[in-house]
Amino acid sequence: MTQPSQIKNQLFKTATTATIARFARITGTGSYLPPNRVTNADLVSQLAATGIETSDDWIVERTGIRARHFSAQGVLTSELAVAAAQKAMQAAGLLASDIDLIIVATSTPDMVFPSTACIVQNKLGIAGCAAFDIQAVCTGFVYALSVANAMIQSGAANRAIVIGAETFSRILDFKDRTTCVLFGDGAGAVVLEASATPGILATDLHADGKHVGILCVPGNVGGGAVEGSAFLHMDGQAVFKLAVGVLADTARTTLAKAGKTETDIDWLIPHQANIRIMTSTAKKLKLDMDKVVVTVDQHGNTSAASIPLALDTAVRSGQVKQGQTLMLEAVGGGFTWGSALVQY
Ligand code: ACO
Repeated sequence: MTQPSQIKNQLFKTATTATIARFARITGTGSYLPPNRVTNADLVSQLAATGIETSDDWIVERTGIRARHFSAQGVLTSELAVAAAQKAMQAAGLLASDIDLIIVATSTPDMVFPSTACIVQNKLGIAGCAAFDIQAVCTGFVYALSVANAMIQSGAANRAIVIGAETFSRILDFKDRTTCVLFGDGAGAVVLEASATPGILATDLHADGKHVGILCVPGNVGGGAVEGSAFLHMDGQAVFKLAVGVLADTARTTLAKAGKTETDIDWLIPHQANIRIMTSTAKKLKLDMDKVVVTVDQHGNTSAASIPLALDTAVRSGQVKQGQTLMLEAVGGGFTWGSALVQY
């Protein structure tokens, strides 16, 4: 039976922890790209061999993409995720055994179930901590970061690894030139640790399910087979219009929640889908393009992996420095969108 003193101790503990401000800070970043780099010229000639016509000029002019990486056949998302996670933990000076929460944002999971996060946990050689996937397509990393932040702030976790990882090449229809030139594979990760000083300053998440059909892989598994199409389908123009409409708004909402303004942003790190969407958002936020981290030219659109990949690239190249204020923002299938303001 619980003794009154035990109850008192428990209440005291709760009251004490409640009064201590708890924040979550990024303490390490990492990323991984599969070795097979495919330039526009490579893709143009590979597609030409199957009668599909495209050009470097068209791809660069409409999207800003010059190259992407594709995984080798049979390589699954967890492999990329583990490589990125290991680099992030190394940067944070942590061992896998220090981690008590794993969240993987992906739309290209290894299996229907269990989660890719559980597969990653096993490959990292640890067990016991919470591990789950988040599915918000290209907004997945922002959703995952927001959930990990809330769990750390509440005391449910202390050291999280938040990963965005994708093998989109597996769901591309290489007979559809309107989509297959846009996407690539990769993974990015951050270690998020409890801290007495703020790191994630504010977040803002949204979804509007009436737009499910404009960007989706409509197939599902039933009766031992895939029912419907297992390829990515996209109404590019509809996605484009929705994206430019919501991105600046969510960034402004997050800034307001944190008591900041556009002028406080050192770096805009947008989802890397299309340079035209990024330019339009930067203009609306009155930010020069030299304050925008751009990797879409080299990575293509890697969906949930694109923001942590861009962040890690910018950290390792010395663009992003300790103490700077970063605005991360994304849109994706669902339709989903959101942003996070980060004191790095
Ligand atoms: N090569 C050459 N021509 C092409 C190609 C190609 N790869 N793809 C399409 N075209 C042709 C079309 O057939 C069309 O020809 P037509 O005029 O003779 O009919 C012409 O180019 C124009 O096609 P549009 O679709 O109108 O081209 P648009 O300027 O809209 O650009 C694009 C297409 C790049 C997809 C654009 O709509 C876009 O960027 N949309 C947003 C996509 C996006 O960001 N998606 C990801 C967000 S969410 C997520 O990341 C999962």
